[in-house]
Amino acid sequence: ETAPEIRKGLAGVVADTTAISKVNPETNSLLYRGYPVQELAERCSFEEVAWLLWHGELPTSDQLAGLRESERAGRELTPELREVIDRIPTTAHPMDVLRTAVSLVGAQDPHADEATEEASLTKAVRLLAQVPAVVAYDQRRRRGQDLVPPDPELGYAENFLHMTFGQVPEPVVVDAFRVSLILYAEHSFNASTFTARVITSTMADLYSAVVGAIGALKGPLHGGANEAVMHVFEEIGSAENAEAWLEDALASKRKIMGFGHRVYKTGDSRVPTMKAALDRLVEHYDRPDLLELYTRLEAAMGERKNILPNLDYPSGPAYHLMGFDTATFTPLFVASRVVGWTAHVMEQAADNALIRPLSEYDGPDERHLT
Ligand code: CMC
Repeated sequence: ETAPEIRKGLAGVVADTTAISKVNPETNSLLYRGYPVQELAERCSFEEVAWLLWHGELPTSDQLAGLRESERAGRELTPELREVIDRIPTTAHPMDVLRTAVSLVGAQDPHADEATEEASLTKAVRLLAQVPAVVAYDQRRRRGQDLVPPDPELGYAENFLHMTFGQVPEPVVVDAFRVSLILYAEHSFNASTFTARVITSTMADLYSAVVGAIGALKGPLHGGANEAVMHVFEEIGSAENAEAWLEDALASKRKIMGFGHRVYKTGDSRVPTMKAALDRLVEHYDRPDLLELYTRLEAAMGERKNILPNLDYPSGPAYHLMGFDTATFTPLFVASRVVGWTAHVMEQAADNALIRPLSEYDGPDERHLT
């Protein structure tokens, strides 16, 4: 009997087809429904990209107006949800708060178990609107600040920043935020998206899939890396320590957060676009010191390990400059990726097969109680 081939971490395993995005490491490209993500980041609003990922085509102006209207109408947190958030200790990580909040949003929806495409789209838009409200409110309560109500005059990105900071920042900041949201929105069968698909494959509801995906995204090998990058920057302190810090970290076999990728081995296709946005923020906030640290660590990592940065490397410091608390960075990733997750939930449900792989047993041989 030959032992079955086991691919640890399912590396290189093609689990299913998808029409939502294409990651091509050879050409270093990422397409959402056929469009290069860089073009979308340059030209589109986040709402347009959400529509594209859900429906397969960019919206007409009427469709976009409709989406904007429903997103704006869904931004208020219910008093019950606020009360639950208020009761969660601030020792809990914001990802845990968000996980709990999304679970409650699902429990409050009397149609949670309806799984037609139309019902799923309604839920997806509801989450699109509610997640920023939760993330903004949680950061504010941790700072001892009051809730800022949503502003129906503002688009998604502006309103998110308004609800977090009580004002809409300069266009250069809003734009960098919009770019980050578009770049984070979708990335094929990454760990959290695959989690969402596994949950959907049992015919569980969309909210359960998103709650599970939030759990998967929290880890530092996945979405938690954008937060972890900022902790690394804080540990290093200033640029001249970068090389010595890296030597120590590598000597103690640490994984350097924000570097490396399971799929991209010659660079993450999203990095140049996000790095350009970071450069504009560095200029705006006059923080050349941050850029110097960024550049020196990247160069040292290239020289020592020949490993390149992933999207979390530029987005971490970008969110820091925008004024977000470090622990809020991964919830920002959720706000964006919830679009990709829900697109995958709908795709999985439309042509479902229960996801249930096999395992090779390597425990003790059969034995008996004596
Ligand atoms: N720091 C140090 N060494 C690394 C790193 C890193 N960041 N990434 C890979 N390596 C080494 C790894 O130790 C291994 O070396 P060796 O062959 O000597 O054991 C070699 O490179 C191959 O790496 P691997 O672990 O087989 O690669 P993987 O495909 O399993 O890992 C990864 C991918 C993302 C988990 C890994 O690169 C990593 O842990 N990076 C740090 C965390 C991070 O930034 N995650 C964000 C991922 S991308 C966006 C997102 O999802 O948010």
